[in-house]
Amino acid sequence: MELLKQKIREQGSVLSAQVLKVDAFLNHQVDPLLMDEIGAELARRFADAGVDKVLTIEASGIAPALMTALHLGVPMLFARKQQSLTLTGELFTARVYSFTKQVESTVAVAARHLGAGERVLIVDDFLAHGQAAQGLASIIEQAGARVAGIGIVIEKSFQPGRTELDRLGYRVESLVRLASLEGGTVRFLD
Ligand code: G4P
Repeated sequence: MELLKQKIREQGSVLSAQVLKVDAFLNHQVDPLLMDEIGAELARRFADAGVDKVLTIEASGIAPALMTALHLGVPMLFARKQQSLTLTGELFTARVYSFTKQVESTVAVAARHLGAGERVLIVDDFLAHGQAAQGLASIIEQAGARVAGIGIVIEKSFQPGRTELDRLGYRVESLVRLASLEGGTVRFLD
């Protein structure tokens, strides 16, 4: 996706060989027109997947997931990381380890929002180790629903997440794939 590559080139900054900072347009300040294009492109790629709902994790997954849901004409649901007074009733939960933050957290979705038999598209901002996507897939499976696919905004292809999700048999579509961040330079895979 050319517009996204251009944004990364112009406004992204490489913090280390592992981490790309994109807080000017994706995970702190958010560019609405870019999110609209991201949503349109993910919706186009999964148009044949029979998606009933889009699922992500708060916080940074919400913007691209919402725009994808808008373009698919389905609801968007986000898993919560924090306990909330309004998160009541039966819950589906998963433990997600963040390699970036080095903490394990429990993410939760109210069972009443995920129905058995639904086809659910997972959307997230980054794919690194694939922990978030696997946690969401576990929640979908607990509900008796099915993973329709996994849509990613920025895939760090040099980290193990993509290979692992492919191995598990999920259909993964990433809008941009990074080959490397070595030497402070962003290199795209294709
Ligand atoms: P994983 O889900 O693929 O296993 O990734 P990992 O544990 O490595 O990442 C944990 C968090 O760090 C996630 O956000 C993920 O989106 C983010 N992240 C991973 N790699 C990068 C990167 O190169 N740049 C940036 N900016 N973020 C990255 P989170 O903890 O859920 O945070 P948030 O959604 O609340 O912002």
